[in-house]
Amino acid sequence: MKRSIALITAPLMIFFFIGCNSGNQANSTADNSATAKKDSAKPDKGLGKFTSVPLTHPLDTSMIARGTPIYDSRCISCHKLTDEKLVGPGWKGVTDRRTPEWIMNFITNTNVMLDSDLVAQQLMVTCVARMPNQNLSDDQARAILEFMRKNDGKK
Ligand code: HEC
Repeated sequence: MKRSIALITAPLMIFFFIGCNSGNQANSTADNSATAKKDSAKPDKGLGKFTSVPLTHPLDTSMIARGTPIYDSRCISCHKLTDEKLVGPGWKGVTDRRTPEWIMNFITNTNVMLDSDLVAQQLMVTCVARMPNQNLSDDQARAILEFMRKNDGKK
């Protein structure tokens, strides 16, 4: 009996391990299929009020300056800037795998997204944790997005 439980749980543990740690690749495959089910033609903007987030080129340095201390005080405990998972996924490449609207909606409308957005739910499965709502203002969320773009080497 004990053995058969081990036989069942071992592959599951491996699944979670791979799902979280190689994060990006495993997630993006899973995420793509989730996105495809939603509407493969439209970019995935998530759920919330942000339907269009204009991006600046070059990056907005004052936003980055405002975003950095927010990351350092409220996000760093769960998110690394590399592709390595901590509690949540590492932020490297996040601005490539998600639209700016999805990121802004996720940051400001976290509970609704975790309850109803397929991609966010997939992340919750692979991370085995639920991100608490961070109560950020729209302006703070936008500053964090700019910080993420800088981290991804955007110009
Ligand atoms: C207590 C841990 C925790 C804190 C603090 C936290 N997060 Fe998260 N975050 C998570 C988890 C876990 C996930 C994956 C989704 C889930 O399981 O809820 C996540 C996912 C994300 C994602 C999606 C990443 C991806 O790869 O698509 C973004 C964006 C994000 N968080 C932004 C933030 C921001 C911005 C802050 C700080 C203001 C923050 N998080 C603070 C735990 C946390």
